[in-house]
Amino acid sequence: MERALDSKPLIPESRIQTRILEIAAQINQDYRGQDMVAVCILKGSFIFFCDLIRHIEVPLTCEFLGLSSYGKQTVTSGEVKVTLDLTEPIEGKNVLVFEDIVDSGLTLDFILKTLRARRPASLRVCSLLFKPGRLRAPVDVDYIGFRIGDEFVVGYGLDYAEKYRGLPYIGQLQSEH
Ligand code: IMP
Repeated sequence: MERALDSKPLIPESRIQTRILEIAAQINQDYRGQDMVAVCILKGSFIFFCDLIRHIEVPLTCEFLGLSSYGKQTVTSGEVKVTLDLTEPIEGKNVLVFEDIVDSGLTLDFILKTLRARRPASLRVCSLLFKPGRLRAPVDVDYIGFRIGDEFVVGYGLDYAEKYRGLPYIGQLQSEH
């Protein structure tokens, strides 16, 4: 059954943009005097990534890591597939991973294991959204935009069956009855 979008935004556009400025300020402080490889996890992080890196003042290069998504499911299968890999080695570099949402944490766990094996100098994570109640993997998230409940959310890059990515805010799907 198709799930409809709730008419009221869960996180309005203005709150997202304000939070992005706060996170960028923290990142600028933490990475002062260093440079970084900013890794955008596709597809869901692309809008967050574009908005945030425009406020990062340390020198950076951009990389994109494509991972398979849930398809039309709203729960994780735990299986993750790389659909697009980085173009450059990250050995000895400061890597900051940009995620859209950490739900079970299984996807991030896979990302961190994959990247750690390539021996970066440092490896940190910035996620727009975090669902603490659903975490099933021992992952640390260094920069968190918003902690949310267990609801399935869409918009601002996040999808349900590839829909809603272009919404400028975070919305919620109505629950199935
Ligand atoms: P995890 O492996 O369960 O942490 O899920 C991470 C990935 O699942 C995210 O990068 C999203 O692509 C997708 N995902 C998890 N929760 C949601 C949601 O509420 N809305 C849209 N996508 C989600």
